[in-house]
Amino acid sequence: MNTSRLIKDNLWYIGASDRRLALFENMMPVPNGTSYNSYLLTDEKTALLDTVDQAVSAQFLENLTSVLGQRKLDYIVIHHVEPDHLASLTEVLVRYPEATIVCSLHASRLMKQFIDIPEDIKFQVVKEGDTLNTGKHTLNFVGAQMVHWPEVIVSYESTEKILFSADAFGTFGALGGNLFADEVEFDSEWMPEARRYYTNIVGKYGFQVQNLLKKASALDIAMICPLHGPVWRKDFAKFIEKYDLWSRYEPECREILIVYGSMYGHTESAAAVLAGLLADKGCRNIKMFDVSATHVSYIVSESFRCSHIILFAPTYNGGLYPPMENYLLDIKAHLLQNRTFTLIENGSWAPVSGNAVRNILAEMKNITILEPAITFKSSMKDTQRNELEALAETIVKSI
Ligand code: FEO
Repeated sequence: MNTSRLIKDNLWYIGASDRRLALFENMMPVPNGTSYNSYLLTDEKTALLDTVDQAVSAQFLENLTSVLGQRKLDYIVIHHVEPDHLASLTEVLVRYPEATIVCSLHASRLMKQFIDIPEDIKFQVVKEGDTLNTGKHTLNFVGAQMVHWPEVIVSYESTEKILFSADAFGTFGALGGNLFADEVEFDSEWMPEARRYYTNIVGKYGFQVQNLLKKASALDIAMICPLHGPVWRKDFAKFIEKYDLWSRYEPECREILIVYGSMYGHTESAAAVLAGLLADKGCRNIKMFDVSATHVSYIVSESFRCSHIILFAPTYNGGLYPPMENYLLDIKAHLLQNRTFTLIENGSWAPVSGNAVRNILAEMKNITILEPAITFKSSMKDTQRNELEALAETIVKSI
């Protein structure tokens, strides 16, 4: 069945959602599924704006062919060539070989690494400042390199004031009929997944996202059409503010995240004691994760949200407990900065995890470590409770 939706005059949503996908990029859990958005302009000329992942290709192709009917497809605009948006291009070209692919120069090269494109397919290479007129509508191309890949270009449709933003302003989560962010409980239900999507997918490219935000601020935008998640047609200033914070690596709030690794529960127990002490001192909304039990993408996301991160790190094989190391290397890879850390190390005969943590944090920008770090051997004893109390006091003062 055709599931396309008219979202504006001559503009159709023809994407689809996948609720069966377990791991996005075969890595990040997506319990709420994900949508792959694609749009179709049916103006004097017709223009398809991006395709979809292989998983929802059949639905997308049915939507595309149903809306076009007997009309030919004039243009295929490819903003981003990652396969979650490119995979169905092959099938589109089989059906509409006369269409011209419109994309950046880099995209025109990169897409051929992923799929075979027949020699006779026409290309129109565009760069920032170029336009594509389809009749009543004009797409104005804006460079968005490294948001999230180097070939990315976004487009601003100047008649209806629509920004086709590629991965920017996207979120994990399947769409359930309500296509627009103002039709769902975005702040309470979608924002955590929007944050997890941003931080894990685009988080490393804050500088480039800042560049795009600057360019976008010069545009009069009435609607934002991302490649994942709901379409924005009102009240998106708050979401843009979040993007601004995330891409400047500034915390959203002065709150505490506790991340612990624990093999037999001793380190976990110490983490619980400190969490209780902090709560008794008035700290609210403390978030606490077992680094082995929660997928690292959730902890990365919370690390972007919170100002203070407390690490309880066991020693392992003369180094750092591997799940903790994985988490730390992940936030480092995502260029997390401007955070305050507290370290508690555990080790039964030669505790070295504290130093291993410091070595990783030393390679991150603008990191403060609250001293003194605490060391315990195997398990924390009551005699060390005063050390934790003093540390809790130091943390509270810092917040
Ligand atoms: Fe949704 Fe970078 O692809």
